[in-house]
Amino acid sequence: MQTVCVLGLGYIGLPTAGILATNGYEVLGVDVAERVIATVNEGRIHIEEPGLHTVVQAAIGSGKLRAALAPEPADVFIIAVPTPLNADKTANMDYVCRAAESLLPHLQAGTLVILESTSPPGTCRDLLKPILERTGLRAGEDFCLAHCPERVLPGKILLELIKNDRVIGGLTPACAARAGELYASFVEGEIFLTDATTAEMVKILENTYRDVNIALANEAALICEELGIDFREAARFANRHPRVNLHSAGPGVGGHCISVDPWFLVEKYPDTAKLIRLARDRNDGMPSAVVARTCGLIEGIASPKVTALGLAYKGNVDDIRESPAIPVIEGLRAAGVTVSIYDPHVDDARFAQRGLEEALAGSDCLLVLTDHQEYGAFDPEQVARQMRTRQLYDTRSLMDVSRWKSAGFRVECLGHGGEA
Ligand SMILES: NC(=O)c1ccc[n+]([C@@H]2O[C@H](COP(=O)([O-])OP(=O)(O)OC[C@H]3O[C@@H](n4cnc5c(N)ncnc54)[C@H](O)[C@@H]3O)[C@@H](O)[C@H]2O)c1
Repeated sequence: MQTVCVLGLGYIGLPTAGILATNGYEVLGVDVAERVIATVNEGRIHIEEPGLHTVVQAAIGSGKLRAALAPEPADVFIIAVPTPLNADKTANMDYVCRAAESLLPHLQAGTLVILESTSPPGTCRDLLKPILERTGLRAGEDFCLAHCPERVLPGKILLELIKNDRVIGGLTPACAARAGELYASFVEGEIFLTDATTAEMVKILENTYRDVNIALANEAALICEELGIDFREAARFANRHPRVNLHSAGPGVGGHCISVDPWFLVEKYPDTAKLIRLARDRNDGMPSAVVARTCGLIEGIASPKVTALGLAYKGNVDDIRESPAIPVIEGLRAAGVTVSIYDPHVDDARFAQRGLEEALAGSDCLLVLTDHQEYGAFDPEQVARQMRTRQLYDTRSLMDVSRWKSAGFRVECLGHGGEA
């Protein structure tokens, strides 16, 4: 296995291509976006991820990594394209199908095809195998097919690509073993081999576990608000129980994984996945709870203005996919509130952003929607001078409450009934 073709050069595919290239493989990165190909071939990157620029620059510089719009013959094909939701919350597998079809001319006896995209359980067996077998070659006999889900944390992708344990599921045990050999050449974590459908389920279960537990935290936070107590304090003490691990509450769940993957189970098993469905609804309902509380804070103010701190779905990343900040901002605007956005990590033409000073000017409420480090370092006195009304609503437990109160702010926090 000397040559690897990685299909999809996004948050997963590009770091994977870079790491493989720096581990001695001849790597071709393929993407359908011309801008991505041009950027990568110049040794630059189009996404924000610590350390990635250095890796890609070195890989391009060494000649081990190239990018192109179409696949070329390779020993291994890794599919790392998006698996988003359709509007009706069903899995959109079009990208995976198109990527698989694009490699058909290069599929040969002995080729290894790995699906890294997070996919509904059964995808390798029921969707990919029939597509790849259009070549007349038999999966598991002539070529290998495996699923290796990705569990990296954005912001730490390069480290976790190497350090994390990996679960690799093959269409047959031989397919799993073959894929395992590839990952063993650069992964320092343990590698566990299983069948493809189990590996697909493992990834979905990981994210569903987190979604359901976040939903529990969010629900408990709303109950604590009604009780007039602080959820964070209740959770901190509950978590001193040796078998309890309450998660953090927040304005909703975003990103390409946790808010998406549980739907794959709801779609396939609607009568069974009832708890999973309820959890999704609870988390998707959090933005409207945030809108309602923010509106309560600015009630009675003529032509109110809110400064939204954050568009990204979580702190210190530039990813806005499924970000709960977006429905919060839209909900406030629909309620007639002027919202200015300040997110130093995000540059997206769909959301007009202001510089910090302009975003704060005449504002009636600072609304923390993303836990970017920068916000925690704000000087409350300086911020106060630019605002019309000194109010802070922190949905991420990011700000130092006492500092902001000392600067004369009314501070409210998600999960805390009344003033913090
Ligand atoms: N981002 C994460 O943190 C993360 C973590 C674990 C798993 N995943 C999963 O990995 C997969 C990829 O996610 P991502 O975040 O890298 O997506 P992404 O949107 O950042 O990148 C995907 C890339 O694939 C390209 N693409 C689309 N169709 C293509 C095709 N037919 N051929 C070649 N390229 C094509 C797109 O242009 C895009 O650049 C998804 O299934 C996701 O759920 C993502």
